[in-house]
Amino acid sequence: MAKIRYTHPDGSETVLDVPEPNTVMRGAKLNNVNGIEAQCGGSAQCGTCHVYIDEANTLPLPPMDDVEDDVLYGTASPRRETSRLSCQLPVSDAIDGLVVHLPERQS
Ligand code: FES
Repeated sequence: MAKIRYTHPDGSETVLDVPEPNTVMRGAKLNNVNGIEAQCGGSAQCGTCHVYIDEANTLPLPPMDDVEDDVLYGTASPRRETSRLSCQLPVSDAIDGLVVHLPERQS
């Protein structure tokens, strides 16, 4: 279980307790969080689960693989240093308190 804070472009927040096994994307979809489309269902193909990890983050996240890296070059909102695909971020106690910022648009 991890508390994940989803920050919307207008500054509002959705804070969820997301159980394992899930991803940051799946937690959002299960709770109808606006701003995560996840059109491919989590297979790192669509880029519509794009998030920006909070710049102050110190929690351990899995490294980005080549597939995620490629997909992040095609997202609707600009890629940043902090960009990740939320479907590639598994939930665990280790990321309790993670803050992700949702982009302006996903498609
Ligand atoms: S859900 Fe499609 S890339 Fe993450």
